[in-house]
Amino acid sequence: MDKLVIEGGKPLSGTIAIHGAKNAALPILAASVLACGTVTIDHVPKLLDIGVMLDLLRELGCRAWHEGETVVLDTAPAHTSHVPETLMRQMRSSIFLMGPLLARFGEVQVYQPGGCAIGERKIDLHLQGLEALGAEVIELGNRIICRAPRLIGNDIHLAFPSVGATENIMMAAVLAEGRTTITNAAREPEIQDLQRFLNKMGAKIMGAGTDTITIEGVRRLEPCRYEVIPDRIVTGTVMVAAAATRGQVTLQNTNPAHLTSLIHVLRRCGVQIAIDGDIMKVSSSARPKAIERIVTSPYPAFPTDLQSQLMVLLAVADGTSIMKETIFEGRFKHVEELTRMGADIRVDMNAAFIRGVPRLYGATVEATDLRAGAALVIAGLAAQGRTIVEQVHHIDRGYDRIEQMLSRLGARITRYSAVPDNRVVPG
Ligand code: UD1
Repeated sequence: MDKLVIEGGKPLSGTIAIHGAKNAALPILAASVLACGTVTIDHVPKLLDIGVMLDLLRELGCRAWHEGETVVLDTAPAHTSHVPETLMRQMRSSIFLMGPLLARFGEVQVYQPGGCAIGERKIDLHLQGLEALGAEVIELGNRIICRAPRLIGNDIHLAFPSVGATENIMMAAVLAEGRTTITNAAREPEIQDLQRFLNKMGAKIMGAGTDTITIEGVRRLEPCRYEVIPDRIVTGTVMVAAAATRGQVTLQNTNPAHLTSLIHVLRRCGVQIAIDGDIMKVSSSARPKAIERIVTSPYPAFPTDLQSQLMVLLAVADGTSIMKETIFEGRFKHVEELTRMGADIRVDMNAAFIRGVPRLYGATVEATDLRAGAALVIAGLAAQGRTIVEQVHHIDRGYDRIEQMLSRLGARITRYSAVPDNRVVPG
């Protein structure tokens, strides 16, 4: 397993461009099977999760390859809608294939993606949505079979604005007969990106970005070329890293409008942020100020995917902050690791009480999930001394070679890859 070795205490400085959004690219790649032909998607990051999605699409018969940051996907040869269990287990987002495969083949077989490190993560809302469109859902242990010779539009109210359920229902409803209306829909920018992509293929969807999405079913979709939005969570991660190291960085290819809540919080911490179109300059020279209370909630509120990273900044802030996590019940695993680096954080149910300390100290820590791992990297950059972050494969799911990105900003960070005889070599 790879590890990252970080010599901390150096302010980040320089300019980098942000890669495309994983959480936009994954449903878009899945939605590509709704058309029959060659779909070209630009600005797709080279990440572990994207690799798993491409493997899944190949298993279904598609041809898929990366050309730099472009993915070319020929969906015409797809011949099965049975998603293999081994690949489903590798990535929860494989559930995105359910809606599009059902719409294209009239039947789909998937497996429960199961829980994960950050929480239970049920799929009941996905299944209820597909049932409302006329699908018969059969659960056989771990296996889920959905059948619908015809999908028929319906009014669907989500009990919770789930991102994945909203996307799955959109992807199934585009080829349904008649109109589907999703109320209490999730409003995340990735849903707007999926709407733009599907509409470019000929779908008739309105309202993404609001809590009501209307989909007029069409008979068929045509392949197209599409560019994915910038990754707001990677952008936010680097912004927090710049602030935590009291550095000065310029980020290109960002969408500041997608990060309003983080920008607001960072400014309250005393971080300077200048915005010019898709460029953001982030700088900080003083100790951050604590924030009394932050609550993670669905977009446009503060995102759960930036909770752990922001906690690192608050861990060295002047004063006490409270962070409440309302989306995933198991999302405080980084707290124990940060405590080993000298942070003073106490967790009570879904709230973390963060008493700022003057500095963190390097330690050997373990990435337990993707965003917790990113938080530990930020902590390592800000800490005094050497930090070793283990289980880097979690971080590779969502950041394209994080060590290279941060090295370009002057960070002293090296990847060491384990080789079969247990020797460790620079990656
Ligand atoms: C997506 C993002 C993830 C982000 C999350 C919340 C992708 C690939 N992943 O995940 O990075 O952290 O949104 O912003 O886009 N729930 C149910 N039943 C369901 C579906 C969800 O109870 O059928 C619950 C979940 O357990 C969780 C909450 O709803 O507590 C939010 O989940 P959801 O919005 O669906 O997140 P994902 O789409 O899985």
